[in-house]
Amino acid sequence: MNTHLNLHSTSIVIGDECFSVLQDFLLKNQTSKVFIIVDSNTKKSCLPVLLRNIPILLDSKIIFSKTGEDAKSLKSFEDICLQLINNHIDRKSLIINLGGGVICDLGGFVSSVLKRGIQFINMPTTLMSQIDASVGGKVGLNLSGSKNQIGVFNNPIYVLIYPPYLFSLSSNELLSAQAEIFKYALIYDEDFWHQLCAMGGVKKSHYNSIITQCIGIKCKIVSSDYYDWSERRKLNFGHSIAHAIEGLFINNNMPISHGCAVAVGIVCETYISYLKYDFAQKKFHSIINNILRIFPIININETQYDLIINYIKFDKKNSNGEFNFTLIKDIGCALVNCSVSKEEIISSLNFYREKCQK
Ligand code: GLY
Repeated sequence: MNTHLNLHSTSIVIGDECFSVLQDFLLKNQTSKVFIIVDSNTKKSCLPVLLRNIPILLDSKIIFSKTGEDAKSLKSFEDICLQLINNHIDRKSLIINLGGGVICDLGGFVSSVLKRGIQFINMPTTLMSQIDASVGGKVGLNLSGSKNQIGVFNNPIYVLIYPPYLFSLSSNELLSAQAEIFKYALIYDEDFWHQLCAMGGVKKSHYNSIITQCIGIKCKIVSSDYYDWSERRKLNFGHSIAHAIEGLFINNNMPISHGCAVAVGIVCETYISYLKYDFAQKKFHSIINNILRIFPIININETQYDLIINYIKFDKKNSNGEFNFTLIKDIGCALVNCSVSKEEIISSLNFYREKCQK
């Protein structure tokens, strides 16, 4: 089954038609040269599939990125730009980002600023990037351990999502994406939440329909607030605390997956939502239990609270020195720009730790 969606200037294709769409584009458009950015994983597992399906891409130039979040540094940005310049990229070239969220963010940022902009296509290869990072036009880099501090909004011409790329993914990578899938349900669609809880975990046979539901929600939200001042911030539920925890663990040289951090963020931010809004207790417990049942415990101790709060100060949603969170007042109903105090954040971290000790 194939799904075609549009978001601003991007055409999104989910399913195996993405190869014929890309082939048609390449045949109809006079690109001077095609560059494919890969990392060691996608070079091995995804590039051969792409080249087998579109043999004209055998003439393209392959550009290598590091793997992992480290690749979104200024140093790797410079490295990718130099590889492209040394291979004579020009403004009529095309860049294909073949990889997970890191490659889509880094490759999208390079494409946006190198020679003042080169057209690009995202071919996301992880569940996380297929349901989120590849769509919506946010591209960027990390700075000194803080995530996505440098970036622009710029749309790929296509997002081509081929779910079978996921068949080679590890169970940890799938688990990581599951936190974002839960997030979509919690902010937008209660029926989807019940469906996910009943599934008890994402399986191969669910990929196509889950990706289509998540991307459908993302397109609806982003089309009403591309620049992320209001509605789009719903997508950030769980992420104020998640980004802080992720930053903390990166700086301690013990990185945890984005999804595991989002799971902690969802628990803590659901707790703050429960404190602040008239939230049904049964639903509150259903969220907490479903998340904690699936995700590993992340060890946080009280001595780290000040550091966590300091990381949250860098969150782009904050304004006038206040912490601005996205919260939920019910399953499927998110509220943006909610002012949250330091004390509420600390009591949510205490709640997480207590729950994990049980
Ligand atoms: N990943 C959140 C957003 O695209 O806004």
